[in-house]
Amino acid sequence: MSFPIERLRRLRRTPALRALVRETVLEPSDLVLPLFIRPGRGEARPIKSMPGVFQFSRDRALKALATAVSAGVRSVILFGIPDKKDAQASGAYAADGVIQAAARAVKDRYPDLVVIADLCFCEYMDHGHCGVVGKGEILNDETLELAARTAVSQAEAGCDVIAPSGMMDGQVAAIRRALDGAGKETTAILAYAAKYASAFYGPFRDAAESPPSFGDRSSYQMDPANLREAMREIALDIQEGADMVMVKPALAYLDVLRRGRDAFRVPFAAYSVSGEYAMIKAAAERGWIDEKRAALEALLCIRRAGADFIITYHAVDAARWLASPGRAGRKA
Ligand code: PBG
Repeated sequence: MSFPIERLRRLRRTPALRALVRETVLEPSDLVLPLFIRPGRGEARPIKSMPGVFQFSRDRALKALATAVSAGVRSVILFGIPDKKDAQASGAYAADGVIQAAARAVKDRYPDLVVIADLCFCEYMDHGHCGVVGKGEILNDETLELAARTAVSQAEAGCDVIAPSGMMDGQVAAIRRALDGAGKETTAILAYAAKYASAFYGPFRDAAESPPSFGDRSSYQMDPANLREAMREIALDIQEGADMVMVKPALAYLDVLRRGRDAFRVPFAAYSVSGEYAMIKAAAERGWIDEKRAALEALLCIRRAGADFIITYHAVDAARWLASPGRAGRKA
């Protein structure tokens, strides 16, 4: 069957026909809102490279959440910016650490919200690396002990999901063991399984005040050139007990998502990172791109490539845009 019998335009003729045969949907419940939490009160510090994103003190984060929840957002991921940093990342596993306190407050006000804790040490280490440093190297197994402690303290603060992003080998197993040992066997793990050493994290490092003071993250994060290796990372994390896995960044790595989605059964997350957000924002500010259409298209396509849900700085706006009714309604 081919032209003139087969005419694919027949099913593109009206909005309702297009909706009928649409293969992928994007909903507010697919979106996870990242929140940067700092100590103090009454603070909402704008992040220059990410217009519309702020470092919030706990009280202001709750305010922002009210808006997000009413837009339809049902999940958040928390990043902490502690008062002080040291060589043991002690702020990461302090019982009253910035994430722990925020998680308690959020869960108290919004018990039904999914609260995900990012588990990484770069924001808490004085050198800005994601693990313990010794002799100029990032030490893997020494970092696992800290990861285990941090996961337990985040779970005790009420986080539903622990998301280790440090790319240390064995981190998922260490965290699963520690959680189970602490009676937190119902706390889930979302592994940043295929996290690449990416230039697209640039604006985040301003936001989280976490750039490394020497070297870069290439000895632990993945080489952007590698796809087969991503499949090994994902397989290992699932074997170690990950309930869900993530690919990060999103837009330049859609092939990784698709390949992973086809090869494994666990839910897949994609992290549409700070640089992806900043590019759309910057172009839109100059009038070079339509922000709403570009952001929704990018998110939809990340879903199409295989993501079950997406961490995105556009979460609140996108949820609102998706909810705004009826492009294809009745005739007025
Ligand atoms: C590390 C971490 C990073 C991001 C999330 N967690 C940055 C990095 O690895 O340098 C990047 C997120 C983004 O760019 O939006 N804790």
